[in-house]
Amino acid sequence: MHSRRALLYMPGDNWKMITKSVTLGVDSICMDMEDGTAVNKKAEARAMIAKALRELDFGASEKLARINSVGSGWEQDDIDAVLPYRPDGIVIPKVESFEQVEWAGKIIEAAELKFGWPLNSIRVLIGVETAKGILNLKEIAAHPRLDGIIFGGEDFAASIGATRTKDATELLYARQAVVAACAAFGLQAIDIVHIDFKDAEGLRVEAQQGAGFGFSGKQIIHPNQVQVTQEAFTPSDAMVAEARRIVETFEASQKEGKGAYSLDGKMIDMPLVKNALKVLERVKPDSGR
Ligand code: COA
Ligand code: MG
Repeated sequence: MHSRRALLYMPGDNWKMITKSVTLGVDSICMDMEDGTAVNKKAEARAMIAKALRELDFGASEKLARINSVGSGWEQDDIDAVLPYRPDGIVIPKVESFEQVEWAGKIIEAAELKFGWPLNSIRVLIGVETAKGILNLKEIAAHPRLDGIIFGGEDFAASIGATRTKDATELLYARQAVVAACAAFGLQAIDIVHIDFKDAEGLRVEAQQGAGFGFSGKQIIHPNQVQVTQEAFTPSDAMVAEARRIVETFEASQKEGKGAYSLDGKMIDMPLVKNALKVLERVKPDSGR
């Protein structure tokens, strides 16, 4: 799975931002036809994203296109306009049911067959960002085409009538529900946008909190946010060293016949070792989570 520590959006009708995005070394680039694009610019965004997919070299960055939600009336034209130019993945926002993912999955499979691309090579990421979407996570997350779930904090707050705050306590339940569903189905979990793009310190705190919750990455909206975010979702040298130490001492203690043992005055047993292994997994090159 492609690493998606930072997933950068830009309006699909903004050529300047699209061309800038490929120079930033960001993990994923998501050209948007949904809420980042004005209602009277949808057609322009479709054409421009198709052009970008045809003409630009995205380097190591993943190229994604976000369509409008299934049921908006725009989704078919959106997907038809960009799919033939082979994006790495399609992002579907505001998903509330398994069937909505299935709708896209069928269209993508037909394109893979028609163009002779490997089956399942075009990935799907979905936004779950409404009350219904959160309630139906268990069914939705089981879709085999999925790589990850993106949690939209602003949309979710609007959906439940919550007031957004800096520490995001109003989103706690939904964020953790998304992380749990993703862990259960082996998916990446992609956290909320920090919309105050000049506030690097606030972004760092929020990104580290998300990483601590178990998210594998975060949505971003501005070039300033790339580095801080990618760093926050890369385990630090200290975390990696600590994880290695836990794994090594655990193996030794198992040989001595001890399941639980003490290290620096703390108890270590199997769950801590599993967590340490997760940290080590995340530093493998191109690991998904
Ligand atoms: N992707 C790529 N480049 C971007 C960018 C983005 N998301 N946001 C800004 N830039 C570029 C600008 O074009 C500008 O380039 P330049 O230095 O070559 O002129 C540079 O970064 C600095 O931009 P800045 O002036 O600080 O921001 P802005 O006022 O032009 O734009 C936003 C601010 C929020 C409108 C803009 O960042 C944006 O549209 N972000 C994405 C919004 C979006 O897609 N939302 C939907 C998903 S949540
Ligand atoms: Mg949204």
